[in-house]
Amino acid sequence: MSLKLPQDLLLGAATSALQIEGGDKNNNWYQWCEEGHIKDGSHCLNANDHWNRYREDIELIKKLGLETYRMGLEWSRIEHQPGKFSKEGIEHYRDEITLLLENGVVPLVTLHHFSHPLWLVNKGGWGNKKVVDYFKRYTEYVVENLGDLVSDWITINEPNVFLYNGYVEGIWPPGKNNIFSMFRAMKNMIKAHIVSYKTIHQVRSKHNFEGETRVGVANHVRLFDPAGNKKIHGIPARLLDYFFHRLVMEGMARGKFMFPIGTGGHPLGEGRYYDFIGINYYTRDIIKFTLNPASLFARMEVKEGADTSDLGWEIYPVGLKRVCRKYYEEYQAPVFITENGICDKGDTKRGHFIYDHLKEVVKLINEGIPVERYYYWTLIDNFEWIEGESARFGLIHNDFKTQKRSIRISGYFYGKICKTKEITP
Ligand code: NOJ
Repeated sequence: MSLKLPQDLLLGAATSALQIEGGDKNNNWYQWCEEGHIKDGSHCLNANDHWNRYREDIELIKKLGLETYRMGLEWSRIEHQPGKFSKEGIEHYRDEITLLLENGVVPLVTLHHFSHPLWLVNKGGWGNKKVVDYFKRYTEYVVENLGDLVSDWITINEPNVFLYNGYVEGIWPPGKNNIFSMFRAMKNMIKAHIVSYKTIHQVRSKHNFEGETRVGVANHVRLFDPAGNKKIHGIPARLLDYFFHRLVMEGMARGKFMFPIGTGGHPLGEGRYYDFIGINYYTRDIIKFTLNPASLFARMEVKEGADTSDLGWEIYPVGLKRVCRKYYEEYQAPVFITENGICDKGDTKRGHFIYDHLKEVVKLINEGIPVERYYYWTLIDNFEWIEGESARFGLIHNDFKTQKRSIRISGYFYGKICKTKEITP
């Protein structure tokens, strides 16, 4: 069946700075790679050398026909030492964004996507209260210098994943296993988002920069489905949902810090700190009850018999509809699907994955839910954090030795959808 997409749904792809740029030694992930934490031994210093090849990559964006592009800024390249800003760094991003605009591509820019300067690490990272002021200062500088070109912003990408992997599991920097440190960092992140949200609005309106300012968070949203219908099955799923999603989301969206549970929370701000609902959706987990309070009585499993990606994540397109509907009902704002994608080295599933997920987007729109953007993750195979270069999510294949890019079949397929807003499978 052929599928028509509304003309005003903007289609694009997403990346982050650290995962593609290469060449920066001044950030936390450089250090993490140096310490040997990457499973396949690759290094973010290499990545896609996008820092030097962004022109070529924008050519590819153009060739694919993407209407919008979500990109990240590397904080350490812009503010290489505390309070010391790099003209070269910011000018580089100005050039890149200008080129996107000249090609008719709408930019959506992320300020923090898991990586940050080493000087911040040395000051205690997100655990240090002062990070809130540092993030404000960085935001201010960026928006003063790029705010005339960019009206759509993401302050922080996937705060829950950053906090969980870095402070609970310890598999990402700063490598901690401490729930108290996690809560401290979470509070600081919430406050930093709120301050950054306000700063972006203030700076853009002070200069009367063109276009409506829209700011949000890219929330990592998973579906936690209980393994059975009995009440007891629902408890761990709800607990997980609360700790993994709600705490950070409510904090960032409304300034309410909902911890400890049952107290009604306490305010970290008062208001509404989002102009769109950013959703990164990949998969769902089936949640089984286990007698382990440390894991919130939950054991995560993949649905039996389910189709999965190379990383073993269930492919569950209906989940995209379920999460977008749920958060739209709760937060009532335009929905940006800030990431959705699949790790699929052989490129045998990606085309279907895109088709099936876009089908759910059309259903959402038909139900009256204002989904305005869809970003496929990711434009090009890149440095997938501790999985390194082995996990391939790209519409474009990358040979990391030669840096040769080749558009995949699924890339052409998606490109055609972007150009025609119609899919005939
Ligand atoms: C979400 C993250 O934002 C992105 O950096 C990562 O590469 C993808 N998920 C895939 O795991």
